[in-house]
Amino acid sequence: MQPFVFHNSTFYNGDCITGAAEHIADNSVDLIITDPPYGINGDLLHRHYNRKEEFVVGGYVEIPRADYADFSIRWIREAERVLRPGGSIYIVSGYTNLIDLLNALKRTNLKEINHIIWKYNFGVFTRRKYVSSHYHILFYEKPGGRRTFNLESRFGLHEKTADGRSLNNFDREDVWCINREYKPGQMKNKNQLPTRLLIKMIQYSSNEGDLVGDLFLGGFSTAAVAIGLDRRAIGFEISHQIFNTKIQEMRTITPGCLLSTLQNPKTGSPENSGKTWTDNDLRHLHERYTCLLAEGVAKKQIITRLGEELGRGRWSIEKALKKRGFS
Ligand SMILES: C[S@@+](CC[C@H](N)C(=O)[O-])C[C@H]1O[C@@H](n2cnc3c(N)ncnc32)[C@H](O)[C@@H]1O
Repeated sequence: MQPFVFHNSTFYNGDCITGAAEHIADNSVDLIITDPPYGINGDLLHRHYNRKEEFVVGGYVEIPRADYADFSIRWIREAERVLRPGGSIYIVSGYTNLIDLLNALKRTNLKEINHIIWKYNFGVFTRRKYVSSHYHILFYEKPGGRRTFNLESRFGLHEKTADGRSLNNFDREDVWCINREYKPGQMKNKNQLPTRLLIKMIQYSSNEGDLVGDLFLGGFSTAAVAIGLDRRAIGFEISHQIFNTKIQEMRTITPGCLLSTLQNPKTGSPENSGKTWTDNDLRHLHERYTCLLAEGVAKKQIITRLGEELGRGRWSIEKALKKRGFS
């Protein structure tokens, strides 16, 4: 299998199981984001996604349903081998063969971090049941090293929504509402992942210069976003047709081109730290403390909540409570 090497990245047109065994060293990949074939009738996929077939890149290689469980075990074992200790893997899956992926993961040492639900628009068309409009994202780590999780890479811990909720917490909830990209009249892979979804996983779980792997490149979306965020990429796509169409586009990407599109998180001190406590602040402190305590909320959590509500650090809240004889 010949490598295509550019932008510090390497791509192979071939099977990911034999290809990874031959070309990727143990413990060498920082992050894997991958979207395996679904094991459903590939020729009907465009119906699932409400897409006109003439705008879909052909050549998608599907795995027969009967082989799916065994196939999942084989590729997930390779993914586990190449991940560095502490490395993360995100596997995007529909519902149909989710059980095979979960069973395969159970047979490795990979450890579950979150089971994320990705809610998107354009549900699968149905008449006599609910409309399916979500995917599963299985977020696991390889134990044995420190996992990268860039807590404030997108929102500072003290940033708030207009109604006072923590933006950081909200962004880290395990249900993600991100729409599929609607690009009428443009060629795309059958089930291309949205850039926003990929940016989120890559920002939280890797740093610039890290190696990001995708065993099933399809439209190369993971690799394109990784390079756009100044990471290196490595991956496989078995279909000649898809690979040959996409590899040319990949050469035109400018490494780091997406970095300027990211918002700057406001990190640092809470907004009111160092400011004098007003009568209103003190009233809020008193009332909320008494109320949360009566609700049975643990003291540690009360302090975190009051810190968020009043825009002050833990130490400041603890000191104010102590001074007023609350703790
Ligand atoms: C669900 S798609 C990936 C879509 C991709 N994440 C994107 O955003 O465009 C799965 C891809 O895996 C490819 N594939 C199937 N079997 C493969 C194998 N054994 N090795 C590598 N690629 C394979 C299919 O041809 C298909 O393009």
